[in-house]
Amino acid sequence: MAFPPRFLDDIKDRVGLVDVVGRRVKLVRKGREHLGLCPFHNEKTPSFTVNEDKGFYHCFGCGAHGDAISFVQNTQKLSFLDAVEQLAGLAGLQMPEQTPEERAKEERRVGLAEAVDAASRWFADQLRGAAGGAARRYLTGRGLDEKLIGHFRLGFAPNSRDALKTALTGQGFTAETLVEAGLLKQPDDGGAPYDLFRDRVMFPIADRRGRIVAFGARLLGDAKAAKYINSPETPLFHKGHTLYNLDRAAAAVRDGAQLVVAEGYMDVIALYRAGFEGAVAPLGTALTEDQITALWRHADEPTLCFDGDEAGARAAARAADRALPLLRPGKSLRFAMLPPGKDPDDLIAASGAAAMRRILDDGVPMSELIWRLELGMRSLDTPERRADLERRLRGRARQIVDRVVQDHYWSAFRERLYRNFRAVRRQGGGGGPGLQRPIPGGGALASAAAFPRRRQQVVLATLLQHPELADEFSASLSHAELDPDFDNLLQALQKQLAAEPDLDAETLKRHLSRDGFAPLIGALCADDVLVHAAFARPESPVAAARAGLAEVLAFIFQGRRMEELEASARYTAEHPDEEREARFLAFRKDVELSDSRMRESEDGLHDAGEWDDGG
Ligand code: UTP
Ligand code: MN
Repeated sequence: MAFPPRFLDDIKDRVGLVDVVGRRVKLVRKGREHLGLCPFHNEKTPSFTVNEDKGFYHCFGCGAHGDAISFVQNTQKLSFLDAVEQLAGLAGLQMPEQTPEERAKEERRVGLAEAVDAASRWFADQLRGAAGGAARRYLTGRGLDEKLIGHFRLGFAPNSRDALKTALTGQGFTAETLVEAGLLKQPDDGGAPYDLFRDRVMFPIADRRGRIVAFGARLLGDAKAAKYINSPETPLFHKGHTLYNLDRAAAAVRDGAQLVVAEGYMDVIALYRAGFEGAVAPLGTALTEDQITALWRHADEPTLCFDGDEAGARAAARAADRALPLLRPGKSLRFAMLPPGKDPDDLIAASGAAAMRRILDDGVPMSELIWRLELGMRSLDTPERRADLERRLRGRARQIVDRVVQDHYWSAFRERLYRNFRAVRRQGGGGGPGLQRPIPGGGALASAAAFPRRRQQVVLATLLQHPELADEFSASLSHAELDPDFDNLLQALQKQLAAEPDLDAETLKRHLSRDGFAPLIGALCADDVLVHAAFARPESPVAAARAGLAEVLAFIFQGRRMEELEASARYTAEHPDEEREARFLAFRKDVELSDSRMRESEDGLHDAGEWDDGG
């Protein structure tokens, strides 16, 4: 940038956006914003908003968006520099000296920015016009309404080799500028440049300041071409430094939203629509170091979402690899795993915003991810294997450049290692694969989402081995909301016991197996379940089973109470009222108290060995 830092901000602070816009548009104050008729398209009811705090105007009708400088540029057809000069005059500020070369370079970059901006407007017009019918239907079919399309400034590039070229050269842009802006493609054979984007829905990509610098483009039909293409690298656009929607997401994050990284454009839009306004996405590549650093400017622990399948697990591992050396005190990542084969857009469409909320809340910290990746399905039953795990974890910690963070990682890993080694020894050393939360072959994070299910398994395994507890816990079991397969088994189990209250475990299992539950019972009584809860083993005393069962059920309910707490927080924030606030605070205190108590005892639950000692 040719201007000294803060020069442009100083101008904007001094002139005030409402005053600048107010010179051209009659504005009416409405809450935190001002409202008026949009100067960029014809309208009868106002959809043009000005937000002084954020320094942006935005039109919900045509998607026009920008700051004081772009407003002057666009309403008066001025170059960037001329607009700055005019505003500097209004602000009473001297323009800084510029060499002719600087001025020329700036003008060139500005020419590109204007071209991209003009293109985005033209694409938006096409989407609204006659050519855009199929694209509009496509977007409507994917749940996008007018308002959302306006917010994300979506557009349509018609199926033509030169429609954009004709329109923009008609506005005075040279073909050379359009090629440099990544809008036209110059064929290698020296022929005439042609439109790069054809028959595609256009997703404008903005830089950090909200200026459109590039496009992502999705094919409408199922042609053989790539589903998505992006603008090439240009002087304005560096793919590896840019994140889709970061400008808007950053503002939302300042207002309290969670910073969430998804994979695709449509995911960001679906997340936004579901109330997750802090959503961003890289542009078709894995996250780069620059992008991770950019995320940290806005949030300490952004959450990355990954598909819960093998490929997603590998992608999570890659992201962790890349971020590990960069960790700094306070700066980290969280990892949330979606159900296999689903992206946030799919999940929200199928199961709603609450399901997405749960996935994000179930995200695990970086250190947990690394631990799970290294532990995997490894068996820890010999000193050599334990040494190997220790060596790998030490290597991981050493990847962290920051010494303070490195030290903390290593001591956290070491502590966990010894806890696990101890547990293996208590199980008699023959212990099966993994330990706490084992991970199925490479499916790194599958257990992040599966863990609550693991708790359900423990509940049923305990009841199968200690049927005498079923009656005692019937009240809380009826509230436990188990997954359908477990619920069926529980119902059948309770029916058997109602008929014959004194059934012993073996007879009960035989009856239930006859009723078709044999595979489920087999799985529940297998080692990989019992390793999580030795109290569920047949040989453990009933007192241990009772205590263990009470604890697991408490965990399941605590999860629910956390959800209720969140809902109550949201409701209280939206409907402030002293009494309600007091009730909310009391509720929160209670939930937090039981949560901390549970954390203290959680090790006991995982540490299967604790219970074995007693039996
Ligand atoms: P996906 O293939 O997962 O598609 O690509 P999606 O985002 O779910 O898209 P819809 O729902 O089918 O519309 C994820 C991201 O990978 C990049 C794009 O950035 C896309 O948003 N991508 C995908 C490409 O760059 N090129 C492609 O051919 C496909
Ligand atoms: Mn998708």
